Amino acid sequence: MIRELNEQDILFNNSLRTQDEFINDLTLGYVYLGYFLEDQLVSFINYIELVDVIEDHFVFTDPEHRNKGYALALFKYLINNSKKKIIIEVNTHNKAAISLYEKLGFKNLNIREKYYDDDDALVMVKEPDVIVMAIETSCDETSVSIIKNGNEELGTVVLSQMDIHKDYGGVVPEIASRNHTENITLVIAECLERANLKLNNITDIAVAYGPGLIGALLVGLQSAKTLSMVLNKPLIPVHHIAGHIYANNLMSPMQFPLIALVVSGGHTELILMTGHYQFKRLGSTLDDAVGEAYDKVARVMHLPYPGGPQIDRLAKLGKNTYPLPTPLDDETYNFSFSGLKSAVINLSNTMKMKKEPINIENLATSFQTRVVNILVKKTLKAMQDYQVNNLVIAGGVAANTALREAFTIACKDHNYNLTIPSFKYCTDNAAMIGAAAFYAKMAGKTSDLLLNSVSSEELTNM
Ligand code: KG4
Ligand code: ZN
Repeated sequence: MIRELNEQDILFNNSLRTQDEFINDLTLGYVYLGYFLEDQLVSFINYIELVDVIEDHFVFTDPEHRNKGYALALFKYLINNSKKKIIIEVNTHNKAAISLYEKLGFKNLNIREKYYDDDDALVMVKEPDVIVMAIETSCDETSVSIIKNGNEELGTVVLSQMDIHKDYGGVVPEIASRNHTENITLVIAECLERANLKLNNITDIAVAYGPGLIGALLVGLQSAKTLSMVLNKPLIPVHHIAGHIYANNLMSPMQFPLIALVVSGGHTELILMTGHYQFKRLGSTLDDAVGEAYDKVARVMHLPYPGGPQIDRLAKLGKNTYPLPTPLDDETYNFSFSGLKSAVINLSNTMKMKKEPINIENLATSFQTRVVNILVKKTLKAMQDYQVNNLVIAGGVAANTALREAFTIACKDHNYNLTIPSFKYCTDNAAMIGAAAFYAKMAGKTSDLLLNSVSSEELTNM
């Protein structure tokens, strides 16, 4: 059991403090946190809590009870129960203790020379954990996630409305908003349960404020604002595309500079990042987004919505036989898919008129090959032009098998570091919003309650 000590407690013999010093420390405001085995005190840490920081003074474990993890448990307890920065000093020769503090998330701050007679002290600091509840409702997924420090997923719920919109061949905005409204509180409650947390464990509220369907976004935004107001926690607005990119940080820490290729139902963009939350758009689609082209082509092939995964599946069975045009292949980083999309639609209509059968597997492969080739070509050009070695891919179309394979091979050939999110982080989800929020907060991007949703907005540093 862990609890704070009081005047009635008796320190064990040979501890660093005499009983008188211990009582004196308590009157001075020092806190002693003790680990008890039944009623017996076996380890304690002593610290003082200042306005925005906790300074640890010493740790002591009864010699008979060492190496059992009691001191570690005390630190974990302190970290979990304090919302403040914690500072500790440790002898630079005490490698075991330093490695333990590193595991707990402490980082080196500075050295205090000759702090322990002849030895130096390493001062280490642990920033308070940022436990973000993130909300994503920009399209047809109602999603809530709890992410710790930008990379640790504590719990996520993604409630897809896909089955509802399927009957209409696409997302119906009004129906999406209504479903978000009905489900958002249930999804929040379920997410807390999965993470085994209570609302008062949450330190920040994040929300995807756009781009997306305004009515759908407003449901998430209003929920986030309410939570932020009632819990008195910072509100962090996250651009949906920043979220997609930061899905990669849930795989491994993002390395800079990097090029991000964002391919989703609403976006096709090449973005250069020189550091966290530093975005420079190099190019984007001039017409249809990749996912949109997939979905429209699938529609003329009479495949169910969303068409991307269907074409992906069929393309594995077909051959690249149809003479379709190459999408915009110039010196810019822009894309254009509407010509290719129209060519597939025209081809399919002509064949129907002539009553000639279409081989949909071959058509799927022919279309997909052109899409993937141009995405790889322009992305590699950006990598070379900007002399960048790190590539991240993001968005729903990043789930595409052929695209994943092509980029894996290309990056191997060029010795580039490639990260692609696992499937669950490719399509819309709140975990990616929670990951981005940590860095948005570090970049000072919290908002007041006047925050509004936007249907379209370029991703910039502002
Ligand atoms: O990122 P996302 O969930 O929503 C937007 O922000 O747009 O992306 C959805 C898009 C849809 O167009 C869907 O057809 C496409 O991603 N998609 C795929 C695959 N899985 C999803 N496209 C190609 N191949 C896939 N396996
Ligand atoms: Zn998306």
